[in-house]
Amino acid sequence: MQFIDLKTRHCLIEDNINASIQKVMDHGQFILGPEVRELEGKLAEYTGSKHCITVSSGTDSLLIALMALGVGAGDEVITVPYTWISSAEVIALLGAKPVFVDICSGTMNMNETLLESAITDKTKAIMPVSIYGQCPDMDAINSIAGKYNLPVIEDAAQSFGATYKGKKSCNLSTIGSTSFFPSKPLGCYGDAGALFTNDDELAEKFRWIRVHGQQRKHHHPILGLNGRMDTIQAAILLEILEVFPEEVQRREQLGQTYSTGLAGVEDISTPTVGEYNTSVYAQYTILSEHREQIQQSLKVKDIPSVSYYSVPLHLQPVFAHLGHKTGNFPVSENVANQCLSLPMSPYLSEVNQAKVINAASRWLDGMTL
Ligand SMILES: Cc1ncc(COP(=O)(O)O)c(C=O)c1O
Repeated sequence: MQFIDLKTRHCLIEDNINASIQKVMDHGQFILGPEVRELEGKLAEYTGSKHCITVSSGTDSLLIALMALGVGAGDEVITVPYTWISSAEVIALLGAKPVFVDICSGTMNMNETLLESAITDKTKAIMPVSIYGQCPDMDAINSIAGKYNLPVIEDAAQSFGATYKGKKSCNLSTIGSTSFFPSKPLGCYGDAGALFTNDDELAEKFRWIRVHGQQRKHHHPILGLNGRMDTIQAAILLEILEVFPEEVQRREQLGQTYSTGLAGVEDISTPTVGEYNTSVYAQYTILSEHREQIQQSLKVKDIPSVSYYSVPLHLQPVFAHLGHKTGNFPVSENVANQCLSLPMSPYLSEVNQAKVINAASRWLDGMTL
């Protein structure tokens, strides 16, 4: 069994993917070709955002968002310590300080009740992360941000397709940023990402920054990067987008089946999906004090599992200068110590999911052998 099965979908739509790639080969517009514009239109429509600007990766997407907001040396940007390093890395790359706010244990997302006390007169933006496929309480975060006139960037790298109060992730705040890394809910065949906003000025800046800060040919009013998505990746994503709504439904079903199947198993906590949320389960992640035993119980049945972010960002050597120590963000540390993600992809079969549930449920048997 694969941890994330990318092959089954490829086999299903292989002919369409090949035809799309061939079309790009034939017209030869490999950079910002017609497929890029078509994809941006479709993604904007899908999320309900006024603008979608595709870029070279989810990391560059966050970086471009911060650059467009003018984040720089001496500024602070608030994010969470339990996430992939990109969320804080881009803040530090611009010379600003990542300021961490702890998470909630059930959803593993930013604890909005701790947010206000982290805001200072240096705060330039707030960047919650929609971890594992579901959004934090964005209304609460937006309302606190609004009080201080701060922009909110949703790091939605893992949550494309999820909803919060009926609205799509990526269209819940000033800026939405996502990743199309192959294993993400909407993944392409390489690196790519996208920015979403309803703000015309920000959208224009994103477009400049992704092409070296170029406003028009030979005119560069601001600094930028080489941050464009390849036309070939756009062509591939256009095909994957055709099956994506069904995949989202399947992900939800699989998540619910896991939660029902693992309910009541000794020392396993299943993820809480927020009251107003639907999750795309980029990962299905359980918590347990006996994670190693559960992992072993899966391993003997050849079932892969992964512990993501087992060292939270405030304890990473690269952020040692921030002066944090163990105990500073106890919920993040606890989740980092206990998290275990189980196989998840829209093409996980019922039989295989039942095997995972059975093996995880029987971890105690291994203790008595
Ligand atoms: C929460 C989060 N933010 C940002 C990124 C960065 O995306 P990419 O790998 O496309 O640069 C990822 C990817 O793993 C992520 O999970």
